[in-house]
Amino acid sequence: MGFLSVLSYAHKLVAERLQPGDAAIDATAGTGADTLFLARTSGRRGQVWAFDIQAEALRLTQARLDLESRDQLAHVTLLQRSHAEMREQLPEAVHGQIGAVMFNLGYLPTEEADQSLITLPESTIAALETAVSLLRPRGIATVVLYPGHSGGDQEAEAVHAWAANLPSSIGQTVLYRQIQRPHAPYLIAIEKK
Ligand SMILES: C[S@@+](CC[C@H](N)C(=O)[O-])C[C@H]1O[C@@H](n2cnc3c(N)ncnc32)[C@H](O)[C@@H]1O
Repeated sequence: MGFLSVLSYAHKLVAERLQPGDAAIDATAGTGADTLFLARTSGRRGQVWAFDIQAEALRLTQARLDLESRDQLAHVTLLQRSHAEMREQLPEAVHGQIGAVMFNLGYLPTEEADQSLITLPESTIAALETAVSLLRPRGIATVVLYPGHSGGDQEAEAVHAWAANLPSSIGQTVLYRQIQRPHAPYLIAIEKK
């Protein structure tokens, strides 16, 4: 049967913690798969904010949401902003109340996309710091890393080092990785204390 893919495992970890009515963040909307997953999981009383710097990603995300029956989904706000601005973009009422934040790093996975437009270590680490501060106790942040593409390897190393050094008084960090395939995508998850 094999182990779950990193994306499925990230969804599993989030689904085990995110409750109906919760607030959640997709830090890298891309084509919207995680935004839709968060909107379904937090349900019609929930709220989701999805960030991407590319208009095309938000268009694809909106198109994916439009295929769904809206009365089953959380209220979704799409923001064409960097995830590094997460704190300023979210209402203060939800600071410290977020149930899950999902990051899926790298480039927009479509044929037409500019693959040089990737997430970058500096803004990713800043966004992760903010994400952890916005989580409620037992809330979760997941990060899918892509060490197999140029730039992705340095970013993965930076995130790995950041997670390894996160004080355990703030949260617990885990790694899910195929150790025989060092270039395959892998997952780091952080559960807030
Ligand atoms: C791998 S894709 C995300 C895949 C997405 N979860 C999906 O289901 O398709 C990474 C996305 O991060 C976006 N991105 C790059 N830098 C960003 C930043 N600073 N803030 C928010 N999004 C960013 C890219 O435009 C790209 O769409």
